Amino acid sequence: MNEQPIPGSPPAGRAPAQRQPALLDRIGGREVIERIVEAFYDLVEADAELRALFPEDLRAGREKQALFMEQWLGGEPRYSEQYGHPRLRMRHFPFVIDERMAGLWLRHMGEAFRAVGVGEQEMAEVFADLGPLARHMVNAHQDVPRTPLGDVRLT
Ligand code: HEM
Repeated sequence: MNEQPIPGSPPAGRAPAQRQPALLDRIGGREVIERIVEAFYDLVEADAELRALFPEDLRAGREKQALFMEQWLGGEPRYSEQYGHPRLRMRHFPFVIDERMAGLWLRHMGEAFRAVGVGEQEMAEVFADLGPLARHMVNAHQDVPRTPLGDVRLT
């Protein structure tokens, strides 16, 4: 199943090639990404509405999110080495995501970036791409297969 790119968005899972130096370094590297993801998941845990979409055990998702984010921001492709092609939209099919959920996700991610002190310029660059990517995950109105993929490696 191929994912259709949406206008104006980067291909899911890959950062635009023109980012020099890598946004990841400007943000503070892997360690800062891990703190962002921790902060994000704390916000998800405190949000009953969004929390309901997530599995009971958040540990695996937390780890994957950090690996993915690092890769997406120009770091080493550790996510893809372990799990294969991100195919993010497809991996989100088991979760019924509507516009409201995408908005909550983005709001919490924005708050997490701010909480660790990422600068406004870097925030603007990251969210110019994360916004369309989050909206691309909306699948509530589509008839998509909802069977969980688990840790299937997608090539
Ligand atoms: C739009 C709203 C979104 C919602 C409601 C949402 C929700 C979720 C949920 C419930 C999971 C499963 C977590 C687990 O298995 O523990 C997940 C996984 C994941 N999400 Fe999202 N997500 C959203 C957007 C995004 C975006 C924009 C990105 C990319 C920056 C992203 C990246 C990921 C990654 C990398 C995983 C792990 C996939 C895997 O390998 O299984 N998500 N998401």
